Amino acid sequence: MKPHVLIVESMMPETEAQLETAYQIHRLYNAQDRGALLKEVGPRVRGIATGGRLGASGDIIDALPKLEIIAINGVGIDAVDMERARARGIRVTTTPDVLTEDVADLALGLMIAVSRRICVGDRFVRAGRWPSDHMGLSAGVHGKRLGIFGLGHIGCAVARRAQAFGMSIAYTERHKLADCAYRFVSDLVGLAKDSDFLVLAASATAETRNIVSQAALDALGPSGILINVSRGSVVDEDALIAALSEKRLGGAGLDVFAHEPNVSKALWSMDNVVLMPHQASATIETRRAMADLVLGNLEAHFAGREPLTPVL
Ligand code: 8YV
Repeated sequence: MKPHVLIVESMMPETEAQLETAYQIHRLYNAQDRGALLKEVGPRVRGIATGGRLGASGDIIDALPKLEIIAINGVGIDAVDMERARARGIRVTTTPDVLTEDVADLALGLMIAVSRRICVGDRFVRAGRWPSDHMGLSAGVHGKRLGIFGLGHIGCAVARRAQAFGMSIAYTERHKLADCAYRFVSDLVGLAKDSDFLVLAASATAETRNIVSQAALDALGPSGILINVSRGSVVDEDALIAALSEKRLGGAGLDVFAHEPNVSKALWSMDNVVLMPHQASATIETRRAMADLVLGNLEAHFAGREPLTPVL
């Protein structure tokens, strides 16, 4: 008998096909009636495969009395009700390391795209404006000051790339990190004040919720650029929109938002903003590596072994 696994957030078709070979699959993400599906299959489900964006809410966990493992296709655990999982002894796994370099690449890409106005230029050419108009100048990236909020694996990978751009690098973390050559700034507002670019690479927790407040945005200032490859919840999005529209902030490159997949329309028309639909880890190479970990974690668990990359 194949174990029953619920797919909460869709994955690559090839990954879902692999899941389908090994397990009895139920897809919550395209169910007409989610409540009815959970009621029907819930008592049999022993595993969840999900993404960092949708995770596994307390309601879903509660509907699955035999749940043993939640395999996240991502590193963020903020959308999983960890307390419920812990209380019931449910294993939780993520896909660490394999996505680090791609997420850092996108952070740099957003920095350059916003500062050098790549999307503005693209729209300018496509609109046929070049022969009769000037696009205007942009601001450079190399040699500028970069602040990184959250110097974990992704933050460090951003820093390594920024070094090649001759940027001066500072970071904010809970504590100064041992053996770290970058400048430590204990508070986020202080970091923003000293930065031309502020990259958010911290985990979403209760502690970091809305931590990028109006004060931090004002400290970054009218020529400062905010880059978010972390989670929308880390930023006070209303304050961000106000700062951008009142030109108190120079620009923003955003891969994540407060209410995904819905992005505030106020941002759509802003030329100093580059928007991506949560794509930082979404390359073929990385998604395959992430999928291997999701499959490997489920396989190990159901074979009675320790999962490969557990967080719980
Ligand atoms: C994925 C992510 O886009 O790692 C994470 O936490 O948010 C991303 O890598 C996500 O897991 C897919 O929903």
